[in-house]
Amino acid sequence: MRDHFEIRDGDVAGRIGELTVPRAGVTVETPALLPVVNPNIVTVSPARLESEFGAEILITNSYIIKTNEHLREEALDVGLHEMLDFDGAIMTDSGSFQLAEYGDIDVTTKQILQFQRDIGTDIATPVDIPTPPDVSREQAERELDVTEEALRDAEDAETGEMLVNAPVQGSTYPDLRERGGRTADATDLDVFPVGAVVPLMNAYRYDDMVDAVAAAKRGLGADAPVHLFGAGHPMMFALAVALGCDLFDSAAYALYARDGRYLTVHGTEHLGELDYFPCSCAVCSAYSPEELRETEGEERERLLAEHNLHVSFAEIRRVKQAIRAGELLELVEERARSHPAMLDGYRALLDHADQLEREDPASKGSFFYLSSESARRPEVLRHHRRLERLEAEGRILLTQGGKASGDRFDASWRVVPPFGPFPRALSETYPLTAEVPERTDPAAYEMAAEGVARLAESHPDTEFVLAHDGWPETALSKVPDSVTAELLGRVPSDDD
Ligand code: GUN
Repeated sequence: MRDHFEIRDGDVAGRIGELTVPRAGVTVETPALLPVVNPNIVTVSPARLESEFGAEILITNSYIIKTNEHLREEALDVGLHEMLDFDGAIMTDSGSFQLAEYGDIDVTTKQILQFQRDIGTDIATPVDIPTPPDVSREQAERELDVTEEALRDAEDAETGEMLVNAPVQGSTYPDLRERGGRTADATDLDVFPVGAVVPLMNAYRYDDMVDAVAAAKRGLGADAPVHLFGAGHPMMFALAVALGCDLFDSAAYALYARDGRYLTVHGTEHLGELDYFPCSCAVCSAYSPEELRETEGEERERLLAEHNLHVSFAEIRRVKQAIRAGELLELVEERARSHPAMLDGYRALLDHADQLEREDPASKGSFFYLSSESARRPEVLRHHRRLERLEAEGRILLTQGGKASGDRFDASWRVVPPFGPFPRALSETYPLTAEVPERTDPAAYEMAAEGVARLAESHPDTEFVLAHDGWPETALSKVPDSVTAELLGRVPSDDD
């Protein structure tokens, strides 16, 4: 049990949590966005990040500070909080990213953890190895060994009240990611970043990102606070939260602003190509795209960065509200429609429906069937599993609406795409109260047919008649021969 992280609410594998950061004397509500503050180039001041954007936590880089004499002296002298003028929690990275970019850094985990402690870091990072995607298995394994050694060094270090990150690596090998997660989880370290996903996100490989995170999560316990290192595009927050990520850090707001890129929850636009702003944040209310383009360079960069922050923090709030309302997958689905790569990400998420189902709450607000992907949601899978445990004896009519016929059947059940069959008594229970479009698609019928098959196979002594409203052949072919399938109007009723 981790006493510094408490989960307050959840939907899918996403959660609203409270991360207690003892050294800062604050509790951070998750999902949280940590703006990246580059100590050399401050685009938006940390004091404003806190007061205007609501940042409770930020991240900066201890290696950059350590290797710059002026910054090092100041940080050691007055401490990070005073140096940055920020009262919230401060996480620092270790130089691992520089290691990945430039191939070498001259600091060990022991040294950088000591330095982080000396400058007043609240959550520190050891020197992990961010192994890129698609490397050889040997390299991924060798580098994971080094990361795991760094975690052991971190456990041995004197860190006092400071929390310490335990990064999970393993490149694009799910079993190595899972091992990395399990090793990290077994340490007494505190926060669990999934690392080296930046190249995946830059290449729009959201499906591979999902697989890497899902694998890491299998190794980590459900109570572990998980950070998605380097993930700062608001388009993918809902997807990553649904997988069980709690913390995000954004350098994107500033980096993108530097080259005129404007973030939205649907993707990235270029200021040069916008005629209208699809946003009503303070910046977009005060300026038209043309006026912003005419603003002087540094000022324009700051204003764009502010818009990028507004849209990112708003999306975090929207994700939290969706968790509260039990509508996180509806939001993920909406975001998945923004870009084909996001749709791949959502489809990859649904490949892990089995894993997600274990954490998804049994009852929540609403289930909206919004696309053929909805048929693969964890709630549908759960319903199918439940069918095996339901009592279903004698002769049962599975009917899609219409009137039930009493005499010929011992019981009449309803059958509703995409869930399939259920006793009428469950009609008003989640998720069977789902809103499904009248003009639904083959995927919903096929999933309902799989439900019928599951029920029939788990109740071999029961006689089932399925009265459907004209299911497509792809669905009917999934109904086992032991079930009599009839078009609704043709089922013999009491009146016959
Ligand atoms: N920032 C982005 N990715 C990583 C990573 O894998 N490790 C560390 N330490 N920092 C990162």
